[in-house]
Amino acid sequence: MNDQQQAQQLLDFIDASPSPWHAVATMEQQLLAASFSRINETEQWALKPRGRYYVIRDDSSIIAFVVGSKALAEHGYKIIGAHTDSPGLRIKPHALHKSGELLRMGVEVYGGPILATFTDRDLSFAGRVSYRRESGAIATRLVLFEQPLLRLPNLAIHMNRTVNEDGLKLNKQTELPLLFAMSRKEQLPDGLFSELVAKQCHLAAEQILSWEFNVYDTQKGMFWGVDKEFYADSQLDNLASCHAGLSALLDEAVLHSGHTSVCAFFDHEEVGSESNKGADGSFLPDILERIALIGGLNTEDYKRALANSFMLSVDMAHAYQPNFPGAYETEHQVYVNKGPVIKLNANQRYSSESVSEAMFMTWCQQANVPFQKYTHRTDLPCGSTIGPMTSAKLGIRTVDVGCAMWAMHSIRESAGVLDHAYMTAVMRCFFKA
Ligand code: CO
Repeated sequence: MNDQQQAQQLLDFIDASPSPWHAVATMEQQLLAASFSRINETEQWALKPRGRYYVIRDDSSIIAFVVGSKALAEHGYKIIGAHTDSPGLRIKPHALHKSGELLRMGVEVYGGPILATFTDRDLSFAGRVSYRRESGAIATRLVLFEQPLLRLPNLAIHMNRTVNEDGLKLNKQTELPLLFAMSRKEQLPDGLFSELVAKQCHLAAEQILSWEFNVYDTQKGMFWGVDKEFYADSQLDNLASCHAGLSALLDEAVLHSGHTSVCAFFDHEEVGSESNKGADGSFLPDILERIALIGGLNTEDYKRALANSFMLSVDMAHAYQPNFPGAYETEHQVYVNKGPVIKLNANQRYSSESVSEAMFMTWCQQANVPFQKYTHRTDLPCGSTIGPMTSAKLGIRTVDVGCAMWAMHSIRESAGVLDHAYMTAVMRCFFKA
């Protein structure tokens, strides 16, 4: 497969995954196709050596792993961590409200999106619904509306004369509701919404109990640039890293490397990771410990395994955009298509330190892949990742890396075709090392 085909696979993956719940379902399809078995946390496990398994917690976080044949206490876990969620808009519980002759959909801001980028896009929504079965039990179903149903029209420049000087500022409470329909006299907004959702998932409106919906952009991913060397899509942060990590795990040589290899992809990174399925929660420690206990390790051997482990915390990095030179640290500009970025921050906003950095550089060299080093401007607060919290919790040596991209947290982000292939290649090397 060439680089372009690999990037096309990423775009297909993102386009099939308009919410974190869908992203996990898409990854589940790939895992099932590669003979992985789903195991549930509520059940007793019987893991076989060389077995391939995955665990999903609450539909939007997933840990997939291969049980290694090599001694776990001595070889440790090889972990790739990333996140399944992206910043954006989430639909409020009472979704619709009337405003004159129009119906609007109320939205809450999830994480830190660039709100102005949501204007004038062909938006729709996707997520999960909890409903009551005839037996009385509560069940969950994924829901996806493919056609554009929502829009946030800009104010015309004639009413916002200074928009090009001052930028577009949107009040989150009053100016973000999305236009949805002409209002209808015969139907209450809440009833209209549950009927629409019920019909989409082939249920009766009375069965619908609750739901979580993500607003997404219906425009598909695309290549751009004269040699199609760039691509644009939503949610590159951080589905690009999930896709690269999973592709590496599913490589035949990795599956047979003998290491206990793990992909851990968490929801809720964009809102602080503090939840039952977030990276700051118990999900990863719980699964790693169960793998060890079932493998016959005692507590000391489990701690030895953690001490012998390594984690790649993979999240996107800020590529240099020449129109805004002042936004970047002058000696640490990183470019798209120039290889994985090692992210460094003395204040531990990133988990990289000189040893994990050196180890990652070695894997890049082994994979014949270039690498770059990034630090944020010293006078700007630096973002963070799941790396510092998982390494603090588990004591696992970690490096923060990622592909360079433009417009992080825009609804339409961009990155370089070569980098996705580079990153996947280094990850394969890491899993096999
Ligand atoms: Co991210």
